[in-house]
This record gives sequence, structure tokens and C-alpha cells, in this order.
Amino acid sequence: MLVDPKAISPAALYQFMISVVVPRPIAFVSTISGDGRLNAAPFSYFIPLTNEPPLLGISINRRRGVLKDTLRNIEDTGEFVVNVVGEPLAERMVRTSGDWPEDVDEFELTGLTPVASERVKPPRVGESPVSLECRRHQVIELGATSFVVGEILLAHVNDQVLTEGRVDVAKLRPLGRLGGDGYSVVRDVIHLARPRVEPRPA
Ligand SMILES: Cc1cc2nc3c(=O)[nH]c(=O)nc-3n(C[C@H](O)[C@H](O)[C@H](O)COP(=O)(O)O)c2cc1C
Repeated sequence: MLVDPKAISPAALYQFMISVVVPRPIAFVSTISGDGRLNAAPFSYFIPLTNEPPLLGISINRRRGVLKDTLRNIEDTGEFVVNVVGEPLAERMVRTSGDWPEDVDEFELTGLTPVASERVKPPRVGESPVSLECRRHQVIELGATSFVVGEILLAHVNDQVLTEGRVDVAKLRPLGRLGGDGYSVVRDVIHLARPRVEPRPA
């Protein structure tokens, strides 16, 4: 089968893309509006970009032509928190993704705990094992999507996901997004060392 992006509808292309680029990590993003309303929503078009400086990127689409609350809040305040989604958070994370009106506080809606951040105004999600406090670095308009580049200012890591000072994936239990309404969980991890290649003598 060949898939020509220009020959299918945007909806069909979206379904195709989300079923082949899998599993995707989920940025559960908490923000605050200019007038102090809390917001939380998941985004799986999400990627680490660079380490120096520490940048990550999230693609946020329009909803029927209108900015999503997350993007509007990031545009207004320049700040957000990316919370990692562990398995126990799955159902509440999905519940926040409904098309809730902007005055709905998804923390309240789902019983999630807003915990004050150290360097930014939006709170982090208390139930999340890892939260990354971010400042907007740049917003790049890419067609119908805004690509938000954020700089990580501070990371919070719950000690319960650590083994000997390192994040342990078996404790983190990260959720991944698949096609449709599918999600992946991490049950098996295989380890494969990269080949060591000595540089050729000059
Ligand atoms: C797991 C998951 C991943 C999602 N990823 C994205 C995404 O990458 N980009 C996007 O625009 N919407 C994505 N959505 C949909 C948004 O979460 C949804 O539109 C949400 O209502 C936005 O909330 P807001 O208006 O409070 O920002 C995703 C939904 C789920 C459940």
C-alpha cells in the first residue's frame, strides 16, 4: 500500500500518522490563564529537542479554528509545566482531554492535585512522577499547528521512581499513545549496547 498525504483527507492522514509513529510519549501540560484559571491537557505530538539548552517541543492544533486553552495560556503567560503520565494517571489524563469549556479547571474536574511550582506560575500535577517546569522559548507556526518550544527550567522527580539515584522505567510506568484510543504500557525492557567504534588513526 502507498499513502500519498496529498491524496487523502487531513483526518485520514492524522489517523494514519498516529498509528505509525508509535508509541508516543505524552506531555500532560498544566497552564494557568492570565486571570488565574488552571488548565491541564495531554499532547502526544511531543518531543525532546536539545540538551544544551534543554528544549522540548509540543504541537498544538486548533479546535474548530480556535486556539486551545493550553496554547492561549502559553501565549499569555509564557509558562507551562510538562507532567509525565504514569499508568495510574491514565484515566484522569484522558478525562482532561474532553472539549471542556475554558472556564473548566481540569484539576478540579478530575481530582488532580495542583502543587505550586518553583520557577513558573502554573502548578504541576502532584500525582505525576516527573514534572518539567518550562518557559516558552519560541512558538513556531507550522500550517494549522503551533509548535511550542519550551525551555526546561527545573525538573521535579518523585523519589519513588528512583533506583540508586536514577529514574527507573519499571517504577515510572510511562504511558504511550498509540493509534485510535490505544495506549501502550512498559512491561518488558530489552537492553542493547551500542557498538564501540574506535576512531580511525589519522
Ligand atoms: C493522549 C492524548 C494526546 C493528545 N495529543 C494532542 C496533540 O499532540 N496535539 C493536540 O493539539 N491535541 C492533542 N490531544 C487533544 C487535546 O488534549 C484536547 O484537544 C484538549 O481538549 C486540549 O485542551 P485545552 O483546550 O485545555 O488545551 C491529545 C489528546 C489525548 C487524549
